[in-house]
Amino acid sequence: KAQKTLAIIKPDGLLGNYTDDIKRTILEYGFSIVKEKIVQLDEAGVKIFYAEHSSKSFFSSLVKYMTSGPVLVMVLEKDDAIADWRALMGPTDASKAKITHPHSIRAKCGLDTQNNCVHGSDSINSAQREISFFFKELSADIITEHD
Ligand code: CMP
Repeated sequence: KAQKTLAIIKPDGLLGNYTDDIKRTILEYGFSIVKEKIVQLDEAGVKIFYAEHSSKSFFSSLVKYMTSGPVLVMVLEKDDAIADWRALMGPTDASKAKITHPHSIRAKCGLDTQNNCVHGSDSINSAQREISFFFKELSADIITEHD
């Protein structure tokens, strides 16, 4: 079943020139990049996008990080895109990823639990919500197609 997910290359990923490498890896793993754009998030945008984290102690720091520069947002598509993109990213804590998942994207371009250079939707519901947030034109689209 073809499935879509939202991927973000965060400000540290863009600043560190990891974009070409990450995109090459994405294509190598059989994803197609359906949509992409560079966005400068503002505080209000981060609060909506990461609403589920708004009461966490790290939230204000997350806002600072995610608004510190532009991000590249992409809609990726393949069978099991959501799980496969999360596997390719590796664990949230990039410092641990370096030890346990050395070939993952976060191991290569991330630093720690916050500065982890990429994001991926964690469920079909989040994928739907996150794709609609950045790409209004896809909001009526069926994210998981049935064959
Ligand atoms: P992401 O997978 O995009 O989802 C939420 C983000 O919040 C996460 O990546 C990190 O950038 C950040 N984050 C998650 N946990 C922590 C934490 N314990 N401390 C600081 N930042 C965090």
